[in-house]
Amino acid sequence: MTQDELKKATAEAVIAFIPDNCIVGVGSGSTVNCFIDALAKIKGRIDGAVSASEASSARLKQHGIRVFDLNAVDRIPVYVDGADEINHQLQMIKGGGAALTREKIIAAVSDEFICIADESKYVQVLGKFPLPVEVIPMARSHVARELVKLGGRPAWREGVVTDNGNWILDVHGMAIAEPVKLETAINQIVGVVTNGLFAQRRADRLLLGTPAGVKEFR
Ligand code: A5P
Repeated sequence: MTQDELKKATAEAVIAFIPDNCIVGVGSGSTVNCFIDALAKIKGRIDGAVSASEASSARLKQHGIRVFDLNAVDRIPVYVDGADEINHQLQMIKGGGAALTREKIIAAVSDEFICIADESKYVQVLGKFPLPVEVIPMARSHVARELVKLGGRPAWREGVVTDNGNWILDVHGMAIAEPVKLETAINQIVGVVTNGLFAQRRADRLLLGTPAGVKEFR
């Protein structure tokens, strides 16, 4: 099976976890695009969605799924999103698509976070994928110097502006042994909006696409 087929299989499998008459939290990325397409087939049994990116919102609307502002919603039973890496504790690196901040906000509000990913994302130790950090533009150099002190090699993702109007630094060379500790330390740097470690609020469930079928981890 190709990676795209594995993504599609997990995106279709997660539909069984979507309760009736709820507002669904929807993340961002190519795996989530498959999920949005699968969600369209059951749109009659949900009230709508809140979305982590302008791109996901546009795709949801194209399918005729109502998109709510997060401030108008008091409960999200399930949030579905992909990951760039996920470890066996279901802690993740996210933000390859630069949507990490809105993803983290919706994840914080949601009762359950279900990660959908193909097996290439499942790792023992996080950090082979460069860790995205969203920064206020004027603080870019300051934050980069502080990230070097933490042992990383930050690179500016030039030309990319997040949906929040900020910039992204991708931090290379970090084998992340203590994800919660590093997530906290990076968020303490002045000028950081947030970083792509989802360790304090990890996934509650992982649906992993493999050639042998979709495996579930909790
Ligand atoms: C977007 O900013 C990311 O957090 C995505 O969830 C992550 O990059 C996974 O994307 P793919 O499903 O495209 O691999």
